[in-house]
Amino acid sequence: MLEPRERLIVALDLPSVEQAEKLVDTLGDAVAFYKIGYQLGFAGGLLLAERLAVAGKQVFVDMKLHDIGNTVAQGVRSIAKLGASFLTVHAYPQTMHAAVDATADTNLRILAVTVLTSYDDADLAAAGYDFTVPELVAERAAQARDIGVDGLVASAEEAAMLRPIIGSGMVLVTPGIRPAGADYLVVGRPIVAAADPKAAAEAIVAEIAQASGA
Ligand code: C5P
Repeated sequence: MLEPRERLIVALDLPSVEQAEKLVDTLGDAVAFYKIGYQLGFAGGLLLAERLAVAGKQVFVDMKLHDIGNTVAQGVRSIAKLGASFLTVHAYPQTMHAAVDATADTNLRILAVTVLTSYDDADLAAAGYDFTVPELVAERAAQARDIGVDGLVASAEEAAMLRPIIGSGMVLVTPGIRPAGADYLVVGRPIVAAADPKAAAEAIVAEIAQASGA
């Protein structure tokens, strides 16, 4: 059972390592888990990921990998060496197999992104899929489970529907602060852009504790 504080992942959606380091200093012990995505990752943030891991923080590298299996596997091995805890890949079976196999003997856990939260049924149709969003999310969640993926990224609305498919063994990570069904909650702007980020993080941890009855 995770403590409320351990369930909060702060998205370091910032343009520079300098600004990210300043925020991490400000947040101190209030935050134990950070997410690094495209913006910071492509601005030197992957070296920050390594420093955060060395400093005892957990790191979620949100790079949503998708490429041929060999390339995915090599990328996963490099990210494992940074000491990251979570890495996202798109939920295509070949990509998920390659990523899961490459984490053998590492502490890195793979999270599959089923369908991007910004997609609706029309976006899927335009991309050539004959599925609604909930149908494709359920199908890919079942595939991720069968392949041995460690967890899923899903919207808060999908979390409750996914738990019966994936069981208790997989982790669910959702954006936003509604914890129903999710293990981890990713929050960016409400903390990063707050006048007092540490107070904002502590308030969200208190909300998580209250909502989960902890
Ligand atoms: O909105 P906020 O700044 O809190 O977003 C934090 C993170 O959550 C973003 O880095 C993004 O990856 C994720 N997110 C998402 N779907 C949304 C909103 C945010 O996946 N609809």
